[in-house]
Amino acid sequence: MPPASPNIPNHVAIIMDGNGRWAKQRGLPRIEGHRRGVETVRSTIDAARDLGIHYLTLYAFSAENWQRPAEEVSALMGLLEFFLRREARTLVKNHVRLQTIGRIEELPAGPLKELKSAMDATRHFTEWNLVLALNYGSRTELADAASAYAAAVAAGREKAGEASWSALSRYLYTAGIPDPDLLIRTSGETRLSNFLLMQCAYAEMIFSPVLWPDFTKAELAAAVAEYQHRERRFGLTSEQVQPRPTEHCPAINP
Ligand code: IPE
Ligand code: IPE
Ligand code: MG
Repeated sequence: MPPASPNIPNHVAIIMDGNGRWAKQRGLPRIEGHRRGVETVRSTIDAARDLGIHYLTLYAFSAENWQRPAEEVSALMGLLEFFLRREARTLVKNHVRLQTIGRIEELPAGPLKELKSAMDATRHFTEWNLVLALNYGSRTELADAASAYAAAVAAGREKAGEASWSALSRYLYTAGIPDPDLLIRTSGETRLSNFLLMQCAYAEMIFSPVLWPDFTKAELAAAVAEYQHRERRFGLTSEQVQPRPTEHCPAINP
């Protein structure tokens, strides 16, 4: 896989929020907001690729979202199925690999079938990656990872008492996916809502007031520009992470 362009976040994760409020502002049913939100998903996938972002993770349905009114849940599942059926060919054409995080086996049969077929059709791509968080929650992810890790210890594949982050992280849904560099949440809410809590340990966070159906390529580009002005220190001092001036200078011939 080619390295990410310098200073462009390799992995952007988005909490797509505000569909319901977008619809309410217009006197429309909530589902109309979700329908428009699907169009924003399509344009954002293209925008991310244009900007050189190699991993895009979209929070599409949380483990807690099942508790919404039944008709909203079923409309969201219908939209997911519709989106996948319509987009699978475009993903193939654009060399985008589709992956998921979350307990997808608990999704209804219709969207699950489309999901599996789109993932299968795109599994050999490496350059562009779309990760859909579906029936996802960080706490269930941790519980599932703990069960899998315990089973691995029992089977002798891991050693008890020697857990490390690098070993444990192989049992998360995100195994093999780099941590997000930039996390964006739309709609003005400033919380994580059980999304990638561990993986975002050092992500830069940007909270945009824009409601998800109104989120554009310009908004994504602005978030990337803000990210480029942040100094990521990872626990070090500013002096330690700043490149020394000589590193910028072209070699001078003696
Ligand atoms: C985000 O929009 C979509 C999902 C959570 C599925 P919301 O439906 O949460 O919109 P608001 O927060 O009610 O405006
Ligand atoms: C988070 O949004 C989940 C998704 C965007 C899929 P919510 O709208 O469900 O989050 P809360 O309830 O406002 O925290
Ligand atoms: Mg919301």
